[in-house]
Amino acid sequence: MFTVDSISIRYEQKNAISNFSFAVKQGEVVSIIGPNGSGKSTLLKAVARHIPYHEGSVEFEGVNLKSMNAKQVARNMCMLSQKNQAPSDMTVIDLVSYGRYPHKKWFEKLNNEDMEIVHWALERTHITAYKDRTVASLSGGESQRAWIAMALAQRPKVLLLDEPTTYLDISHQHEVLELVRELNRDMGMTVVMVLHDLNQASSYSDSIVVVQAGEKVMSGTPNQVMTPDMIRQVYRMDAEIDYLSTEKKPRIHLLSTAR
Ligand SMILES: Nc1ncnc2c1ncn2[C@@H]1O[C@H](COP(=O)(O)OP(=O)(O)OP(=O)(O)O)[C@@H](O)[C@H]1O
Ligand SMILES: [Mg+2]
Repeated sequence: MFTVDSISIRYEQKNAISNFSFAVKQGEVVSIIGPNGSGKSTLLKAVARHIPYHEGSVEFEGVNLKSMNAKQVARNMCMLSQKNQAPSDMTVIDLVSYGRYPHKKWFEKLNNEDMEIVHWALERTHITAYKDRTVASLSGGESQRAWIAMALAQRPKVLLLDEPTTYLDISHQHEVLELVRELNRDMGMTVVMVLHDLNQASSYSDSIVVVQAGEKVMSGTPNQVMTPDMIRQVYRMDAEIDYLSTEKKPRIHLLSTAR
């Protein structure tokens, strides 16, 4: 689906991402994990073309990302940032409708089919009741769901989510991750997300990429990646791992800071 090949990203003169490669297959759910400041958001932003990369290449279905126009990028992928801000007077339904514009020509109005998709996205994220409120008036969790609805309305091939569970209580965290899983299973949507919770990354991902200080430590299945050694190296914590017999996914128990 897309291949990130040896990219480096600099802020001012300093490398935030160095010589980083990974590949995402069509229909996969991939999580990016790593400590604060390790470069996860930077990596996601470069893939979404929100910021430039300075070396290497990104190819999306065989096409160089740098050669795509903005609309092509938007039809292929949608990124939700860690902090999303809508204009203060924008209503929820306006925000979600905005997701349809990459599919329209200049000045073309939204038609019935677009509005059906918008209402489907509102329903799917349980925010239909808030559709006429301003996004600014919503709680952190409600607003997070409104942004996810906007992304759904865009029907991208790849959904890039930077910490999608921030602000959400545990039940809504579960709901958002289940929604991600359903979209992946029902619609074949490819998902790349940054998560901090190792158990969530383990249970919701096909593959995990571990970032430390701008470099890739390793990538692989949850079973390959979630080891006490990786957790000690990257997070300086001791951990025990067991396996949920139903899913055979590793479950991580953090013990204490490693000495
Ligand atoms: N616009 C910027 N200008 C200068 N430095 C930046 C900029 N954005 C990020 N950085 C730096 O780049 C590094 C990586 O930041 P990034 O936001 O990608 O980390 P992260 O892994 O997403 O962290 P977190 O888990 O806290 O979200 C950090 O040292 C950060 O301070
Ligand atoms: Mg970040």
